[in-house]
Amino acid sequence: MARAPAGPGAAGGPADGSVTLFLPCSQGVEVLLADEVRAIAGDGAKAEAGRGGVFVAGDAVLAMRLNLESRLATRVLWPLAEGPYRDEHDLYALARRVPWTLWITPAQTLKVDVSARRSPLTSLNFAALRVKDAVCDHLREATGARPSVDVRRPDLPLLLFVGETDAALYADLAGEPLFKRGWRDDTGEAPLKETLAAAMLAAAGWRGRAEDGPLLDPMCGAGTIAIEAAQLACGIAPGLSRRFAFERLAPFRRHLVAWRQIHAEAKARVRTSAVPVFAGDVSFRMTDFAARNAQRAGVRSAIEFKTADVLQRSPPAAPGFAGGTLMLNPPYGERIEAKGRQSQAFEGAEAAGAFFAQLAAHWKREYAGWTAWVLSPQMRLPSLMRLKESRRVPLWNGPIECRLFRFDLVAGSARGG
Ligand SMILES: C[S@@+](CC[C@H](N)C(=O)[O-])C[C@H]1O[C@@H](n2cnc3c(N)ncnc32)[C@H](O)[C@@H]1O
Repeated sequence: MARAPAGPGAAGGPADGSVTLFLPCSQGVEVLLADEVRAIAGDGAKAEAGRGGVFVAGDAVLAMRLNLESRLATRVLWPLAEGPYRDEHDLYALARRVPWTLWITPAQTLKVDVSARRSPLTSLNFAALRVKDAVCDHLREATGARPSVDVRRPDLPLLLFVGETDAALYADLAGEPLFKRGWRDDTGEAPLKETLAAAMLAAAGWRGRAEDGPLLDPMCGAGTIAIEAAQLACGIAPGLSRRFAFERLAPFRRHLVAWRQIHAEAKARVRTSAVPVFAGDVSFRMTDFAARNAQRAGVRSAIEFKTADVLQRSPPAAPGFAGGTLMLNPPYGERIEAKGRQSQAFEGAEAAGAFFAQLAAHWKREYAGWTAWVLSPQMRLPSLMRLKESRRVPLWNGPIECRLFRFDLVAGSARGG
């Protein structure tokens, strides 16, 4: 997806001094990400939510910290060059301005991705090729040899944004997108991206503190929401078990000592959860997948799993807590059918309505005092549940526009909230 081609005051060059970093995120998450960036970067950090991401002034050390700590960003981008353009020749000239020998050696590899919005270019592949040529020509002139392209695991992943009149070239410091935390091997159908699960928690203000109370995902699939929640509660940084592209880049290798320290500090912050997290699925296979994912994510002992039908599941015992938070993304009808007790199958749009009516009735009977946050593309969900939502947050699940509905559950009431 195309994004704003240039940030406020973006600058190029090696990773010394301060630049304007750009952190892309999915649509709807920008304001939450700006808050998260301020929390990571510390008081006074200038983070500005833009279209599809957040700009923040920072240096190499902050860039590394953001890669490790951000739950909501999909990447951390380092600005290399920006300016007006009309055609591919201008893009070549733009890319020639970068001192590439400071970034990679001819023995390393690169890849150029292009993201366009209202660009006059006819071929984005050709634009990528011209940027690649600029890097290779620069290195060949300087060293006599040129780097090669690796589309799977490049040492230097580059991202070129082309807008109507301006272009901006960035180094992608993450490499693999940040929602790949390194723990999810087992997935079911339609798993949420880890960044979206984290955005649901952030939108709900659930941060894993004792005052946030217990959290339950009763339709947990691969366990993404519960695992993100448990990592928050245990103080586990989302990137603790993965590697980043910047670790192989010369300008960042100079900051290896600082990186080791940031990593060690993050490890030292891991603690025992002060709040219980529960999850489960009607399918034993999914509950088992989720438990295995939790094991890899370092939070198996922080989550209590149970295979159960959401229509029958009672609130879990959580001594010392009154109420709690339900957080889930139920099947989307057209993608998976909700399947309840064996005698009952919910198939098709009409049956999905019946399922949600039963779910609301069950929650009103058993979950009074709880708050439910339900992510769904079904804009009529509140009327299907005969509950009045107290909030409705727009979020995107990939290309699917959704709402995160908040229902304040009240005993026996026909309307929540
Ligand atoms: C859209 S998926 C949830 C994906 C999950 N958030 C993740 O990230 O992997 C919905 C899940 O609801 C489960 N499910 C369907 N009917 C159910 C029921 N009656 N009770 C509990 N879980 C159910 C499905 O097995 C499926 O795993």
